[in-house]
Amino acid sequence: LNLQNARFIASYGTVDGLPAPTTPEVAFVGRSNVGKSSLLNKLLGRKALAKVSSQPGKTANVNFFEADGISFVDLPGYGYARVSMAERQRWANLISGYFAQERSFNLVIALVDVRLEAQKLDQDMLAFLRENDLPFVVALTKADKLSRPKQTRQVELLSQQLEVPREQMLLTSAQTGLGIDELRHRIEKACD
Ligand code: GTP
Ligand code: MG
Repeated sequence: LNLQNARFIASYGTVDGLPAPTTPEVAFVGRSNVGKSSLLNKLLGRKALAKVSSQPGKTANVNFFEADGISFVDLPGYGYARVSMAERQRWANLISGYFAQERSFNLVIALVDVRLEAQKLDQDMLAFLRENDLPFVVALTKADKLSRPKQTRQVELLSQQLEVPREQMLLTSAQTGLGIDELRHRIEKACD
């Protein structure tokens, strides 16, 4: 798998015009500000292909990227309270509308902040993925912000709280690149 030469395809404000699912697809989901766009950039070896911000709510559309014949889909985050009800509803519609489509969901990367206890919305998202038999891995993000012993403790805790087996969780950091090789490996397996 060679994810260099990634390119931006397009940004969609509604799910109506999404490109036909002619390629394997990998989607990034998670709460606002968890690090979806950052992890995608790190994976694709590009600093600013997907737009990143320290303010939650940066990704407000469904953004498609392509690398090595695979579509990478950066979704808006869920759970950001400080945005209008209408806008929050639009994002929720984008996320659920995307998953309601007939697409090839090769792998969903569900991002969870490694520093926190499991959040209700994350549990809901994982329940949704399980109920719909969608293949997923949980990327625990921002691991660089915790010491090694704390990382290990959080993996155990979140594995229990989210009811996700240890092997289906990866410690990641968009800053140090931790977990990126393993993530690429999982994507390769899911897309061949
Ligand atoms: P929305 O598009 O708003 O849903 O957010 P997002 O999930 O795409 O998060 P984004 O990638 O924009 O990152 C949010 C903030 O977290 C930014 O300030 C990033 O620099 C920071 N961040 C993301 N990943 C990491 C990481 O691995 N380590 C550290 N230390 N900071 C990170
Ligand atoms: Mg984003």
